[in-house]
Amino acid sequence: MAPAIEVRELVKRYRKGTVNAVDGVSFDVEQGQFFALLGPNGAGKTTTISILTTTLGLTSGTVKIAGHDVVREASAVRREVGIIFQNPSLDMNLNGEENIRFHAALYRLYPYRPMFRLMPAAYRRQVRELADVVGLGAEVFKPVRRLSGGMRRKLEIIRGLMHHPKVLFLDEPTSGLDTASRRNLWQYISELRKQRDITICLTTHQLAEAEDADRVCIIDHGHVVAMGAPSEVKSELVREKLHIDAADRSALRRRLQKLKVPFSEDGHFVIHLDGRSAYEVVHSIEQPLTMLRTESATLEDAYLRLLAREDA
Ligand SMILES: Nc1ncnc2c1ncn2[C@@H]1O[C@H](COP(=O)(O)OP(=O)(O)OP(=O)(O)O)[C@@H](O)[C@H]1O
Ligand SMILES: [Mg+2]
Repeated sequence: MAPAIEVRELVKRYRKGTVNAVDGVSFDVEQGQFFALLGPNGAGKTTTISILTTTLGLTSGTVKIAGHDVVREASAVRREVGIIFQNPSLDMNLNGEENIRFHAALYRLYPYRPMFRLMPAAYRRQVRELADVVGLGAEVFKPVRRLSGGMRRKLEIIRGLMHHPKVLFLDEPTSGLDTASRRNLWQYISELRKQRDITICLTTHQLAEAEDADRVCIIDHGHVVAMGAPSEVKSELVREKLHIDAADRSALRRRLQKLKVPFSEDGHFVIHLDGRSAYEVVHSIEQPLTMLRTESATLEDAYLRLLAREDA
């Protein structure tokens, strides 16, 4: 079976851009997987997601969604994908439910009727159910203009979930949501995944939201800088290190080689502990040390450091 998402050497250069916003990104997402795209502001996340959902053209490379090419088979791709945009795209002159109704009619999910109470029962049930899931309740019938930022966000989420997409793209869906709404949304999405085997592609700044992902991909300046299961990426990022130095560097170097501990040199010696204890390593070195420091980071520290290294 074709992967749900297949991205090969994707490049995007905006008109008048001097660098590529996305610069040779490749990844696959298997059907039913939860994939998280992480990266700082301007990394290229929204650009990537926009190309994957056919709202933006690509410069080079290939992208397939459920086996359909985003350039040659754009309408087939649109039938498979749902998207919750980062930027608000609601019609302020309508009420919340009307925004949902137009979207549902546009995607031919339900026939259009000029009033909510004239819409099919299944539609009314679905709107009420989703409004409860995100905690919007009856506010869904208020004019959008009078809703708070978080409430508008919830409305967009409801709209994105109306047509049962095979692949659901969420561009920072929880930004602006309070803690309870955030948790409810995640519960609902994980239910959806289980029930309907949908593939989720999420972008986020919240590292905690990516913890449950099957795979994460960290991008920066349009490049992939790390990819794998969260545990793999974490162990890659939070590897503990020992920094040491000695007056007699060549003797220390020979000793480390003999001990077969992996190390690099950066003015001094940086040892990758890989499960060894710092004590065990230090204990087996005979040379007097002029420097001794251990380094271990939280995921967030490590993530920031990784991105800083990219900038260097
Ligand atoms: N319409 C556009 N025209 C020109 N450049 C753009 C356009 N949209 C985005 N860019 C540039 O492309 C790069 C990637 O932007 P993008 O919006 O994809 O980042 P992002 O990872 O989604 O960031 P954020 O976390 O802030 O949402 C940035 O350098 C941005 O300035
Ligand atoms: Mg973005």
